[in-house]
Amino acid sequence: MIKAFLFDLDGVIVETAIFHYQAWRQMANDLGFDISEEFNEGLKGISRMDSLNLILQHGNIELSEEQKLALAAKKNDNYLTLVSKMTPDDILPGVKEFFEQIKQTEIKIGLGSVSKNAKMILERVDLLDDFDAIIDGTKISKGKPDPEVFLNGATELGFSPSECIVFEDAVAGVEAGKNAGMKVIGIGQKDILNKADIVLPGFEGIEITQLLEKLKK
Ligand code: BG6
Ligand code: MG
Repeated sequence: MIKAFLFDLDGVIVETAIFHYQAWRQMANDLGFDISEEFNEGLKGISRMDSLNLILQHGNIELSEEQKLALAAKKNDNYLTLVSKMTPDDILPGVKEFFEQIKQTEIKIGLGSVSKNAKMILERVDLLDDFDAIIDGTKISKGKPDPEVFLNGATELGFSPSECIVFEDAVAGVEAGKNAGMKVIGIGQKDILNKADIVLPGFEGIEITQLLEKLKK
């Protein structure tokens, strides 16, 4: 029996994935190289410092810890500027309606994001009160694909992993959900999220009973 839906934030509830990409790309460009959309797929769901290390490796750049921290802080400032204008209108299509459906059931709503900005963004788009549990980058020590974020979500809600379903747009996030022993619904493209149990293009027109039936097959 499914007791909880655990949602990733960036790229699932709000389209902030594009802002992360823009801010990282700006940083890479300032360092003299570029990062492609394809490369960016591998950054989705990856923590801030792990993303920075992957990007620097990609550009063959070696820096001290202090320099890295300064770059990460600058990227975050640029990211915060990009998200500062967000409003509830920036919630991805169908998400609000899907949440309204969930609230008609006994299913709990949890957040499983590695972002340290998650709470601030949920507040901005007025969704903070919709969550029964919030696990974000300030509460975990290991980023996705480690299952920690989703396992903590299940624990905080008081359910076992098999009672939870994860919604994810990132390859690393889908893996984290599977590593947690949960069913995973990919939000995005089937060819990219091929480890998910089901892949949906988004939440528009999704009906909970039908979705749960589909997952049983
Ligand atoms: C994830 C994003 O949700 O959060 C990543 O998919 C991002 O792209 C990570 O790097 C960390 O976010 P933040 O806001 O703590 O820098
Ligand atoms: Mg995401």
